[in-house]
Amino acid sequence: MILVTGGAGYIGSHTLLSLADAGYESVTLDNLCYGHRAAVLKGHFVHADLADETALSHLFETFPIEAVIHFAAFCYVGESMEAPEKYFSNNLVNGLNLLNAMLNFGVDKIIFSSSCAVYGDPFEIPIPESHVKSPINPYGLSKHFFEEILASYEVAHGIKHVSLRYFNAAGADPQGRIGESHEPETHLIPLVLQTALGLRPEIQIFGTDYSTADGTCIRDYIHVCDLANAHVSALSYLLSGGQSTSLNLGTGKGHTVREVFEHCQQICQLPIPYREVGPRPGDPPELVASGDKAEEILNWSPHYTLTEIISTAWNWHQNQKF
Ligand code: UFG
Repeated sequence: MILVTGGAGYIGSHTLLSLADAGYESVTLDNLCYGHRAAVLKGHFVHADLADETALSHLFETFPIEAVIHFAAFCYVGESMEAPEKYFSNNLVNGLNLLNAMLNFGVDKIIFSSSCAVYGDPFEIPIPESHVKSPINPYGLSKHFFEEILASYEVAHGIKHVSLRYFNAAGADPQGRIGESHEPETHLIPLVLQTALGLRPEIQIFGTDYSTADGTCIRDYIHVCDLANAHVSALSYLLSGGQSTSLNLGTGKGHTVREVFEHCQQICQLPIPYREVGPRPGDPPELVASGDKAEEILNWSPHYTLTEIISTAWNWHQNQKF
C-alpha cells in the first residue's frame, strides 16, 4: 500500500491513476484545502492534515504502508513571497511530521514532489541536477530545504528518497476524468484556455523584453500524465533497492509564452483577448530541464507533445467536472 499525501491535488490525482494502472494500492491523505475529493478516483481516502500527528499515526496503524509519495504542499510562488511562514510551516514542519511518522512505523522510502524552483535563476540551460541550488522565493527554498532534510534523514535513519524536480506541469487525463482545477489559478495554459471559454476577459502576457527569441519567457511544459508515470517508475526503482537521488522531470524543450498562446489559439479556434504587460516579479527568463539523468536512472522519458498537452487541457476545461 502506497501513501499519497496530497492525492486530491492536480499531480497527485493523476498519479493515483498511474499507480492503479501499475497494480499498486493507494491511500490518499489530503486536507482538501486546495484538493478536490472528486479528483480521487482510485484507492482509499483519509481526510486529514499533516499537522495532525494523531491522524497520521492512525493512518499508519490502519494501512500497511510500504512507501510514501509526498505531494501535499502549498505551491504559489507569489503567495510565498508575501507569507513565507505559511510555506515553511506547511512544506517543512508538516513534512517533518510525515517523516517522523515514517520513522515511528518503520517506513523507509519516500518520493518527494520537488520543483525546478530549487535552481532559482539558472546560469546553465538545459539545467542539470548538479546545477547550484539558489532559490529566489520561499516556495523554492521550502522545496530545497526539504530535499536537504531528506538527505539528513537518510544519513541518520536510512530513509531512501527520490526528489522529483518538476518543470511546468500542464495537460489533463486524456480520458477527461480529471484535470487542473486550482483556485486561484495562476498558471499560463489554464488561464489562456479559460479566457478562450470567456471565463476571463483577457490573458496578460507578463514581460515581452526578455532576452529570448520573441521577448517572452521560456518554460519546459510537461504533461501531468508523464509526471504521474515518472512517480510510478521512481517508486519501482526505490522498491527494488535503488539509491536516493534527485531528478529533473521535464521534456528538454522550451517554449515561449507567445508560442504557447499561439498553440492554444490553433487548438481552440476561438479569439483569445490578450494584453502585454510588464514582467511578473521573480520570473526567470528561461527554465528548461536536462532530462538525461531521469532517463538513465528510471528509464523514463516524456511522451506527450505541447500540442497534446494543450489538447487534453482544452478537453478538460470544456467539460470541467470540479
Ligand atoms: N504567464 C503569463 N501570464 C499569466 C501567467 C503566466 O505571461 O497570466 C507566464 C509567466 O510569466 C511564465 C509562464 O507564463 O513565463 C509560465 O508561468 P506559470 O505561472 O504557468 O508557471 P511558472 O513557470 O511561473 O511556475 C512553475 C511552477 C511553479 C514553480 C515555478 C518555478 O508552476 O510551481 O515554475 O519557477 F515554482
